[in-house]
Amino acid sequence: MEKWGRRFEGKVAIVTASTQGIGFGIAERLGLEGAAVVISSRRQRNVDEAVEKLKGRGIEVLGLVCHVSNAQQRKDLIAKTVEKGSSIVFISSVAGYQPHKGLAMYGVTKTALFGLTKALAAEMAPNTRVNCIAPGFVPTHFASFLMENESTRRSIEEKTLLNRLGTIQDMAAATAYLASDDAAYVTGETLIVAGGVPSRL
Ligand SMILES: NC(=O)c1ccc[n+]([C@@H]2O[C@H](COP(=O)([O-])OP(=O)(O)OC[C@H]3O[C@@H](n4cnc5c(N)ncnc54)[C@H](OP(=O)(O)O)[C@@H]3O)[C@@H](O)[C@H]2O)c1
Repeated sequence: MEKWGRRFEGKVAIVTASTQGIGFGIAERLGLEGAAVVISSRRQRNVDEAVEKLKGRGIEVLGLVCHVSNAQQRKDLIAKTVEKGSSIVFISSVAGYQPHKGLAMYGVTKTALFGLTKALAAEMAPNTRVNCIAPGFVPTHFASFLMENESTRRSIEEKTLLNRLGTIQDMAAATAYLASDDAAYVTGETLIVAGGVPSRL
């Protein structure tokens, strides 16, 4: 018996870029809390594998191929969204506050998400809440450098106040909160989920 609450019973959750890593963890968490989830990424094989894993946990899931820069694929995906009473959670990064040297384009796209969160929250109110999380460092395929070098990993852990890297489950829990009715009066906000790593006042 799973120990999760059922905050998303009767809801549909669309999670993009969600066949592994943080996105997958978010889809799994929302599904375990009762949502029917729509997952997607660029590769059919990854979609199929992720669908099987989620089904194996008893989650109702639909898997689609969607490259997030492909307008038609985005439209096809969103066509399945229920507009009224919906909620959007963007995945930015603490790097959006302080873009890293050598990763300027990545950093500023994450900065842009903070602004997009504010602007869309205003445009889509009152029916749709729009929020954002800013993860710190989470060892995933994307951040595999965290696992490859012990001293790099240690130095990043020491930058946090909680003396550890983040987990996919940490990100999923924060996203589930923002997507749920527990955050019914929260919109246009970014929640930093980074173990206290320096970001902003
Ligand atoms: N890990 C960290 O430390 C960290 C920190 C801050 C922010 N973030 C942010 O968290 C998000 C997820 O990162 P992650 O660490 O979970 O990465 P990950 O484990 O590498 O997973 C990335 C997922 O996105 C899919 N994907 C990649 N490009 C895509 C595209 N153009 N269109 C659709 N799907 C795409 C991949 O599947 P396919 O290859 O099949 O497309 C995969 O399912 C990213 O936005 C990242 O910037 C991560």
